[in-house]
Amino acid sequence: MCGIIGYVGTDEVVPVILDGLGRLEYRGYDSAGMAVLGADSIRILRAEGKLRNLEQRAYHEPMHGTTGIGHTRWATHGAPTEANAHPQVDASGDIAVVHNGILENYAGLRRELLQDGVELASDTDTELIAQLLGRESGPLGERVLRVMPLLVGQYAVVAVCRSEPDTVVAFRQGPPLVVGIGEGENTVASDVTALLHRTRKVLYLENGEFAVVRADGVELRDAAGAPVEREVETLDWDAGRVEKGGYRHFMLKEIFEQPDAIRNTVRAYLDADRSGVNLDGLGFSTEQLGKLRRIHLVACGTSWHSCLVAKFILERLTGLPTEVDYASEYRYRDPLLGDDLLLIGVTQSGETADTLAAMELAVRGGALLATVCNVRGSSSWRLATSRMLTQAGPEIGVASTKAFTTQLVALVALALALRASRGLADELDRKLITDLQRLPMAVEEVLRTDRAFYRLGTDILSEATDTLYLGRGILYPIALEGALKLKEISYIHAEGYPAGEMKHGPIALVTDGFPVVAVATATATRDKLLGNLMEVKARGATVLAVAESDADDVAEVAELVLPVPAVHPLLQPVVAVVPLQLLAYNVAVELGHDVDQPRNLAKSVTVE
Ligand code: AGP
Repeated sequence: MCGIIGYVGTDEVVPVILDGLGRLEYRGYDSAGMAVLGADSIRILRAEGKLRNLEQRAYHEPMHGTTGIGHTRWATHGAPTEANAHPQVDASGDIAVVHNGILENYAGLRRELLQDGVELASDTDTELIAQLLGRESGPLGERVLRVMPLLVGQYAVVAVCRSEPDTVVAFRQGPPLVVGIGEGENTVASDVTALLHRTRKVLYLENGEFAVVRADGVELRDAAGAPVEREVETLDWDAGRVEKGGYRHFMLKEIFEQPDAIRNTVRAYLDADRSGVNLDGLGFSTEQLGKLRRIHLVACGTSWHSCLVAKFILERLTGLPTEVDYASEYRYRDPLLGDDLLLIGVTQSGETADTLAAMELAVRGGALLATVCNVRGSSSWRLATSRMLTQAGPEIGVASTKAFTTQLVALVALALALRASRGLADELDRKLITDLQRLPMAVEEVLRTDRAFYRLGTDILSEATDTLYLGRGILYPIALEGALKLKEISYIHAEGYPAGEMKHGPIALVTDGFPVVAVATATATRDKLLGNLMEVKARGATVLAVAESDADDVAEVAELVLPVPAVHPLLQPVVAVVPLQLLAYNVAVELGHDVDQPRNLAKSVTVE
């Protein structure tokens, strides 16, 4: 959701910015732009739509310089037009800014500036920041210090000033900003994927801080202007992991990376002798664990689905009552908090605004705070006292795949560790630990499935306008996830439903040829699910099912079975979701959609 890049150094800045914006495309956007500083000028180029439109303009209207900023915008205030694209400039044309986030006091600031006689050229809240900086005088860093207290809401801003052609200033409250430290050059970005190919040394800005970035150094200051000392971190991701590596799409590459991602995540939490789970890094004290009586899981989207699965696992393995909430609901529902509660924020990006707000609320209420997150150093990582890193590596496709399966694995490890801390470990634990280590092979087997299976499923679904995904128990969240995967990249309406609930409404949709996708691996409720499938079949539904290849009872009902190997019921979600990812991917490709950057969607949702 919006991407920022800023550069100051010795290279020609236009290719640096275009390259950086290209690496941020996956976040989702609908216009793009850049500002380049000359000896005494700021030149702006902006274009609606995809980055190639901006590239075309840059080709026909060449600009030169070694300092500049760029942005991909996902519209919030104002339509996705060229006038509303970033950078936005102040009335004098001296200041240019790019901005991720939303100003909540937009209306008041706008009124105030209009009363002051400022003529506004866009509908954006971003322009107000440029105008406020333009109204101040002095070095850009000092202007930022005076303007930050006037801004209410969420912002990550990078600004340049005509009179300081060798400086980029970055400041944030909410959405992330990171400075990449190079040799004779420095880069600012909203996301490390934009700068990984230039450096792995990074400095994260905290809320309320600003950084004055020049080619030869970075000054970090707090909201009062006092210098901040922070250690430069070295990232362990390498640039190759954000390339497609011969795959047609990032999503497909990431689906196929799942065995390794799962293997790495399992290994990260197993003891050296692989007989138990090691969560020493989580840092729970004995006293905290002793007080623990309840768990709340908060997340959004696909990460919320992993929480729904985790509820079954945590309650089964730890006996602790576990609630799952959409983060956007939790933050406003006045939940019952306290020091007997463990709140786990599950988020691939670590930057989802609602999840962060829910986590902050829980900390204020005295809860023990943990995060399961895929980005070390992200906002949720820094906010939580206990952290579990999923080892998925960078996930670029907007549709989450390997981040989801590694979240499930991390949450199983967490459940096993809490179980052991409560003295409950027994034979089941040993079995699960063995099966966890076999999971990558099980997923590899799914990925080796003959593509012919997917052909028929793809043909059926790509002609549909509506579909129903059904599952029961721990597989019901997988039905939700399968439906989400299909709808977000193929734009076919797909509803996930608990199969037993289907008779209470959705069955009215079922007519001749209506596709129903069932998650039908072997659990205690498979017979019940088969009964539900007979009901939809009796009304003309075409049933596709995910099941073990020897599940003859499923094969009798389903037009097509997408085969998966047998694994422990608590681990089935990890395996069962993979055919649904592939099915959705194939349908979206068949329909000619932009799989990695679906319309209207953003990779990390940094505004409420
Ligand atoms: C799923 O494919 C989406 N990318 C989306 O639902 C995502 O899971 C959600 O926005 C939460 O993101 P997070 O895990 O980064 O917090």
